[in-house]
Amino acid sequence: MKLTLPYNSKMNSTDFIYGVATASFQIEGGIEQRLPCIWDTFCSLENTIVDGSNGDVACDHYHKWPQDIEMIESLGVDAYRLSISWGRVVNEDGSINATGIAFYIALLDKLIEKNIKSFVTLYHWDLPQHLEDKGGWLNRETAYEFQKYTEIVIKAFGNRVHSYATLNEPFCSAYLGYEIGIHAPGIKGKEFGKKAAHHLLLAHGLAMQSLKKLSPNTLNGIVLNFSPSYPASQNPADIAATQFADDYFNQWYIKPIFDAQYPEILSQLPLSQQPDIIAGDMDIIAESVDFLGINYYTRAIYQADENEIFAQITLKDVPLTDMGWEIYPSGFSDLLISLNAKYTLPPIYITENGAAMPDSIKDGKVEDAHRVAYYQSHLNAVNTAIESGVDIRGYFAWSLMDNFEWAEGYLKRFGIVYVDYQSQERTIKASGYAYRDLIHQRNSNYLSNS
Ligand code: NOJ
Repeated sequence: MKLTLPYNSKMNSTDFIYGVATASFQIEGGIEQRLPCIWDTFCSLENTIVDGSNGDVACDHYHKWPQDIEMIESLGVDAYRLSISWGRVVNEDGSINATGIAFYIALLDKLIEKNIKSFVTLYHWDLPQHLEDKGGWLNRETAYEFQKYTEIVIKAFGNRVHSYATLNEPFCSAYLGYEIGIHAPGIKGKEFGKKAAHHLLLAHGLAMQSLKKLSPNTLNGIVLNFSPSYPASQNPADIAATQFADDYFNQWYIKPIFDAQYPEILSQLPLSQQPDIIAGDMDIIAESVDFLGINYYTRAIYQADENEIFAQITLKDVPLTDMGWEIYPSGFSDLLISLNAKYTLPPIYITENGAAMPDSIKDGKVEDAHRVAYYQSHLNAVNTAIESGVDIRGYFAWSLMDNFEWAEGYLKRFGIVYVDYQSQERTIKASGYAYRDLIHQRNSNYLSNS
């Protein structure tokens, strides 16, 4: 099983960064050495996580990190995207947790030694519980707490980091966590989602201001996720419903950053559902970024509905991943091309793309041909977008290894490395070898040209 790209593709240049990605709560474990976070609490509630699991041990990366970095090195990637656990580096009274800082510094130093660039995400959903107890992202103060945390991290890490992303997928934190309640902290209510989203975006803007000042030489930005929206038919009612859904789920998070305003549907939302915007907020949110991280997995299809403004539908007889998400690679190129047309964007990095598949290990091997096919079609889609003029500088596979897939627990496997959670043994899947060989091929093309 192989992954290939056209010989003359920009993705075959050594300037194009290939990486693998993870997030703290999903892999680290090491719960004794950090503060409890909203996901610990959420996991302890009934009927929140499909397999009843939690992040206490996860992939035990907190203890196995030296071996995991060797594994990353063996894949030959240029970069590793990881996230920092807020409650591992800052104590409840705001003081620094030296042990937590030392853990990340040792890891970052090892990456430097191996010539692997670090892409550090400051917030990948694991809000310390004591901040949630004060209102979490519904409390404006949390944005300022995030800025303080960001400054602690930047000062402690010094010049070890290549890139900082403030937030990962604020849509998921806000909508899944505070509007429909299927993610931590499990709050439900249409009046909460956009309020939480505004404070998250404000936190991003404030942290960008600190990054500009204290870390001007790193590549600083944000990671957003998109499910490009398609109408179920060409009926004007379906098209209008789709437009609304797109503004509500996708443009809501990007437009404030690049246009300093929310989509026009803001004024159509009942007052109770509108965010609390204070004068000056939109300018803070629109602080310029050095890069935009884009995560893509699938598309969404909408139609008009009698009771709601839009309704999402699922198609029958289409290829799906193990998450039940449609495999739709042209949605990826459509998305990249349309965002590039709508906004004046900085360079783009694909910070996540990948697929959960029902893997099994036989004779020490995982033959995940479906995942290889997913990667091939989506790498092709990125290449198509680049050929259409979108400035894309890198691609990160989600994920380095199987891990805690949030409300799905450990049942869904996204890794290009298989994890046996009993023995904590890691096994590189066929997709991992294919990814390694693609990068290797790119390197030898480069050598033969120079
Ligand atoms: C996006 C999230 O950033 C990541 O944490 C998650 O595991 C993947 N999507 C797959 O759902």
